[in-house]
Amino acid sequence: MDRVAEYWTNLDLGETYKVPNVSLFRLLGSLIDTFKDKKILEIGFMQGADLLECKKRGANVYGIDINPIAVSKIEQKNQVKVKLSRCGVDPIPFDVSFELIYSRDTIYYLKDKEIEFFFTDASKKINFNGLIVIQFIEKDIYVKKQHPEEEFDFNRLSNAKLKPIFEKENPIRFLSSKELIIKAEKAGLKLFATKRMLQSYDLDEERFRLDRYLVFKKK
Ligand SMILES: C[S@@+](CC[C@H](N)C(=O)[O-])C[C@H]1O[C@@H](n2cnc3c(N)ncnc32)[C@H](O)[C@@H]1O
Repeated sequence: MDRVAEYWTNLDLGETYKVPNVSLFRLLGSLIDTFKDKKILEIGFMQGADLLECKKRGANVYGIDINPIAVSKIEQKNQVKVKLSRCGVDPIPFDVSFELIYSRDTIYYLKDKEIEFFFTDASKKINFNGLIVIQFIEKDIYVKKQHPEEEFDFNRLSNAKLKPIFEKENPIRFLSSKELIIKAEKAGLKLFATKRMLQSYDLDEERFRLDRYLVFKKK
C-alpha cells in the first residue's frame, strides 16, 4: 500500500468539518442555474457535507472515496450513491453522464499520471455542457505579523516564506495550475473559470493558505 492509500484508508475524521464549503457553493452558484435534478459526482467526499448540500438543493448525488469508513458512514445514513473507489487508478464506477464532477482538497493526493487518468476519465463522464471543478492548495505561506489595527500590508505577501500548514504525515503536495491546465487540455478539456482564495489559518494572521479552483468544460 502506498503512502496516500495508507494515510486515508483507515482515517476516521469523526464528526469534524461537517459543514458545506461556502467557497465551493459560491462558485457553483455562479456556474449552474439550479441544482435541481442535476447529476453531480464528488470525488473524495470524506464526511460528505458538500455532497449532502447538493442533495438538499435537489441534485442526484454520487460520490467516490478511497476511505471505506467514509463510504459506509454516508451510505448508512443518507441513501446516496457512493462507492469505494480510487480516483486516478480506477475508472469512475458509475454509468452516468454527469452535469458536474467536483473535487475539493483531494486531487493533490494523486500522482501526475493519476491526475492525467482522472482528467481523461472524467471528461468522458460529463455531458456536453458538463463541468469539472477541482480545488487544490497552491501555496502555504508564512508572513510577518502585523499589529491588528494596521491596514493590510501587501508587501508582506511578496516577502512571504513558503511553509506548509498541514502536519507532515499528511501526504499533501502543492500543485501547479499551469501543469494541471496542460494535463486537462491533453484530456480534451478547456479552462472555463478560475477562483483563488487567500485565507489565514492561525490566530495571528501569520500563516496563510492560497487555495485555487479551476473549472473545465469539454473542448
Ligand atoms: C482532505 S479530504 C477532503 C474532503 C472534502 N472533499 C472536503 O473538501 O472537505 C480528502 C478526501 O479524499 C479522499 N481521497 C484521497 N485520495 C483519493 C483518491 N485517489 N480517490 C478517492 N478519494 C480519495 C480521502 O479519503 C478523503 O476523504
